[in-house]
Amino acid sequence: AAYQTFSEVAPALDYLDQQGAPIVIKADGLAAGKGVVVAMTHAEAAAAIRDMLEDNAFGDAGARVVIEEFLDGEEASFIVMVDGEHVWPMATSQDHKRAYDGDAGPNTGGMGAYSPAPVCSAEIEQQIVDRIITPTVEGMAAEGKPFHGVLFAGLMIEESGPRLIEFNVRFGDPECQVLMMRLGAQALDLMQAAAEGRLAEAQVNWANDHAITVVMAANGYPGSYEKGTEIKGLENLPEDSSNMVFHAGTKAAQGQTLAVGGRVLNVTARGSSLQEARDRAYEMLDQIEWPEGFFRRDIGWRALG
Ligand code: GLY
Repeated sequence: AAYQTFSEVAPALDYLDQQGAPIVIKADGLAAGKGVVVAMTHAEAAAAIRDMLEDNAFGDAGARVVIEEFLDGEEASFIVMVDGEHVWPMATSQDHKRAYDGDAGPNTGGMGAYSPAPVCSAEIEQQIVDRIITPTVEGMAAEGKPFHGVLFAGLMIEESGPRLIEFNVRFGDPECQVLMMRLGAQALDLMQAAAEGRLAEAQVNWANDHAITVVMAANGYPGSYEKGTEIKGLENLPEDSSNMVFHAGTKAAQGQTLAVGGRVLNVTARGSSLQEARDRAYEMLDQIEWPEGFFRRDIGWRALG
């Protein structure tokens, strides 16, 4: 997307006046996935600029802001392994950034994900590899900085094709949870092959099924929230290759499980269809007793309606 960066309010507001809304305002530092405001109006955008640059809402992370073109479409995540030269694309996945059902509320680090993501057809997947991933990997090698590891492209799938929003050099959270359910222990072989430059020979099979994860977060997240509340009912849940609760922000204390983070649990399931995986995940969620937590009821809605 077209963008400019600013550390002073006045030129940032001038640029906003030229570009108009909708527009995206980003804190140009690490803000745990929360430093992005998708402003649908000029007033919202101006307020976000002032929050970040004048009121230090994100501390040092917001000392500089990026003002970026608004891209319209469906977001998707595309994560690949790279061994310096070869690319091994993983399955597609889709996150749910907003806190509440119907994609309402503030942006978060991610409230749930599923894989595969139907928005990435085989044709789109090929375009992502050919236009975005391969030129990046080749460019880094040509600069004498070959990249080994996990490369995560955050994308907007527009009508005209995929556009890159960001790269991360890590798995997505919670995209990783659904990928790991479908990949299993082969993930380790892949990482070793990436480190040793052997990805061209890697023999890895994806489970030909669907996985979904639903994040349980502390009430108040992504704003402030209470810590130390007790989560009950986890001991009755199945834990096998189709059902898994990944802990993200918990602590074990005297036989209790306590919530100590914003995003706390990832309740994850696999199924032969996305619907089956989703039913299984929500069945588990309904057995968890944590009044101080919340989760979205509609993870997977873009694929399932
Ligand atoms: N879920 C988005 C991210 O990990 O950046």
